[in-house]
Amino acid sequence: MSAARVLLQLDCDPQPSAFDAIVAIDAGVDVLLRHGGVTPESAVALVHGAMFTRGEDDLASTAIFVGGSDVRAAEAIFEKVRQTFLGPLRVSVFLDPAGANTTACAAAVVATRHLPCSDRALAGQWQALVLGGTGPVGQRVAQLLARTGMRVTVASRSRVRAAEICQRIMNQVPQALLEPVEPGIFLEQAIARADLIVAAGAAGTTLLDGSAVARAKKAQVMIDLNAVPPAGIEGIIATDKAQQRHDRIVYGAFGVGGIKMRIHRTAIHKLFQSNKACLDVEELYAIGTEL
Ligand SMILES: NC(=O)c1ccc[n+]([C@@H]2O[C@H](COP(=O)([O-])OP(=O)(O)OC[C@H]3O[C@@H](n4cnc5c(N)ncnc54)[C@H](OP(=O)(O)O)[C@@H]3O)[C@@H](O)[C@H]2O)c1
Repeated sequence: MSAARVLLQLDCDPQPSAFDAIVAIDAGVDVLLRHGGVTPESAVALVHGAMFTRGEDDLASTAIFVGGSDVRAAEAIFEKVRQTFLGPLRVSVFLDPAGANTTACAAAVVATRHLPCSDRALAGQWQALVLGGTGPVGQRVAQLLARTGMRVTVASRSRVRAAEICQRIMNQVPQALLEPVEPGIFLEQAIARADLIVAAGAAGTTLLDGSAVARAKKAQVMIDLNAVPPAGIEGIIATDKAQQRHDRIVYGAFGVGGIKMRIHRTAIHKLFQSNKACLDVEELYAIGTEL
């Protein structure tokens, strides 16, 4: 008889996310152990509990999910979890703080369905603009698009912040073609030349109003990840899904939600296929492209 599939949910918030818990249960986890208020220090004993309890053959039946609304805090827990493993004595682990990883992957997956990036030469012809590119979601979208070979403009209210994100992405993807911009002439140029525009600004913030949408004459695809009115891109409705509007394809937040949920559930399944999976944004994107 195979061991029960046990998932430890480690969340930096006092109350572990109900959303993440329900997705885990729906994905078929047998037992979900929910821990809130987790810190890198307190994670160590929990990881020891996960990796020392079962024999090596059954370690694939135990896994860890790291989440929470504070993305930096969750990343620190994820890092500590990985450091705590002892060679083959380890379990699979999946990071998705505030849904940032799965949301960014879903956006990149739908974008590259319409703007093919099967090789770098093909991808290099596309110009992408990521508005709100400094947030947890935006910077991940920019990284994934840059990884395909697209030319990516990262927009922020501050060019300094946008440049910091570009540098961070360059550290991960040295061949990335990136440009940081702030509102002004360079952002206007980026809007005019973009084939793809992704709005990843804070909830309820319009980053591209109707007149700017009209100036985005080349844009074939627009994706608005904001589900809270007003829209991040004026004219896009949250439920839009590959909707043809004014000669372009548009997606709203719920329109990419289906693929986001499939990536999340498939990632939970992958956790239990071995004890070695380590699912951060790039691995989740690979899952998304296979769906
Ligand atoms: N469907 C899902 O499951 C899901 C999951 C996660 C996120 N989301 C959505 O994805 C979007 C991005 O999420 P996030 O957590 O990355 O967002 P965030 O951190 O709250 O904001 C992203 C960026 O927006 C910019 N911004 C903030 N306030 C602004 C304002 N008043 N005017 C203009 N720009 C502003 C900031 O960049 P600068 O300060 O550098 O300009 C910030 O870095 C949100 O709309 C969120 O609701 C959806």
